[in-house]
Amino acid sequence: MKIELGKDLEKASLPALAVFTFEEDAGKSGTASSLPAATQKKLEGLKSVGELSGKAFQCVLLHSPDGLNCERLLVIGAGKKEKFSGLLHRRVAGAAARFLRAKSMHEIGWVLEGDSTAHAASSPQWAAEGVVLADFDGENYRTNKEKNLSLDRVVMFPTGSQKQEEVRQAVERGRIIGEAQNWARELVNEPSNSLTPTILAEKAEGMAKQHGLKAEVVGPKQIQALKMGAFWSVAQGSPEVPARLIVLRYEPADAPASPVIGLVGKGVTFDTGGISIKPSDSMHEMKTDMAGAATMLAVMQVIAQLKPRVKVIAVVPATDNMPSGTAQKPGDVQTSLSGKTIEVLNTDAEGRLLLADALTYANQLGCTHLVDAATLTGAVMIALGGIYTGVFGWNQEWVDRVLASARHAGEKFWHMPVDEEYRPQYRSAIADFANTGGRYGGAITAAMFVGEFADKTPWVHLDIAGTRWLNEEKPYMAKGATGVGVATLTRLLTDIAKQGGAKVSRAK
Ligand code: BES
Ligand code: MN
Ligand code: ZN
Repeated sequence: MKIELGKDLEKASLPALAVFTFEEDAGKSGTASSLPAATQKKLEGLKSVGELSGKAFQCVLLHSPDGLNCERLLVIGAGKKEKFSGLLHRRVAGAAARFLRAKSMHEIGWVLEGDSTAHAASSPQWAAEGVVLADFDGENYRTNKEKNLSLDRVVMFPTGSQKQEEVRQAVERGRIIGEAQNWARELVNEPSNSLTPTILAEKAEGMAKQHGLKAEVVGPKQIQALKMGAFWSVAQGSPEVPARLIVLRYEPADAPASPVIGLVGKGVTFDTGGISIKPSDSMHEMKTDMAGAATMLAVMQVIAQLKPRVKVIAVVPATDNMPSGTAQKPGDVQTSLSGKTIEVLNTDAEGRLLLADALTYANQLGCTHLVDAATLTGAVMIALGGIYTGVFGWNQEWVDRVLASARHAGEKFWHMPVDEEYRPQYRSAIADFANTGGRYGGAITAAMFVGEFADKTPWVHLDIAGTRWLNEEKPYMAKGATGVGVATLTRLLTDIAKQGGAKVSRAK
């Protein structure tokens, strides 16, 4: 999809042009305020007969609109003005794009905000993210697609006093983030027979090559030689589908030596549960158990293009979790890379085993700050449903930074507790830790287990089990994988780069 800037709204001859309007002053507020008087008059009429309300995502389509040269005008509702936000802006732009592309329109226009609202300056980025995310359907394997619905060209019309170059850069940022997020969605949607650890590693290497990142892929022999006993205990059950440890580095010459941010993503390409096997009804959903990995790889793709001055290393342990004659058994004790021992009471609590070694490895590579993203627990879905990502960590300053980044990037993240008092729940009778902490507070004990291996390095854990996937299509987004976390972590890294890293203390 090409996104370009347009000039003369009234003269633009596109198949469709879209504006948004609020419930207050519907037809005149929002970017509908940039429409010529004749068009607004028409909208006034629609409002008076109750056809235009400005309610969020309401779509009103006019043909041959008065005062404009385009063939159609879409007026989309943006809800109540005081509730409007960057997040909603992205969604409203996305919903407009999906509405029009469903009508087989391949070229559309979107009017950008003027100077009236608080986030007018970043509105080109929100809009670009929104239309790129909207232009994605996870139907790669359907052979009888009737129509090509994709958007070829989106023309953005600036209406405020912002400099052309600034608008262009914001649009470009949004496009880069949206496209990387779509790549993550594509990886997560992919079934496990076409996204094995080997293939994931090849795709990561391909992306790294294309964007100038350093990539290193470690195979089964070396994973064992490195003494990654916890990671290997999960991988040992699938000899036919060998594990991979994927390491990508972004180390720009102009970045300060520290901080070095480590991004660790859970890459379980299929989670059967292992010998503690899962029930079969929704086991197919476990092809998405590498969503954390997809997010981290996508973030690397973004920063390779945005080039913030900060060092970043992504560490992705990738494997299936299979039951087999070589699989680990409940009760087995494993020695992790850190030297700490783990009694594996449930082979389905495999994510924390992989993450344990990956975090230790990230520390060994010199990371000064860690973030992991993982589809770690069903329990986080009980706690937060599919709306909020759970955020865990001991270092309040680092947690707060991630939460602030989420707020600024328009993603819903919620701070969850960690507390010494939960620790006895994952005590083992014979080893340093057990890999399960019981039913209650399952997302917390899982997070705390993972945190034991971050050691003294500031660390934040994102449990994205609930937010990785949309069960139902939204007006602004197809059902399936969401690519959650890409926008937030991009924001975290670009903000750190802007501050030269100085404000990120390592206080535990
Ligand atoms: N990958 C699952 C968690 C999950 C569940 C992700 C649903 C997405 C949707 C994880 O490996 C797992 O199986 N966790 C267990 C842990 C338990 C055995 C302590 C769980 O949550 O049931
Ligand atoms: Mn599992
Ligand atoms: Zn899992």
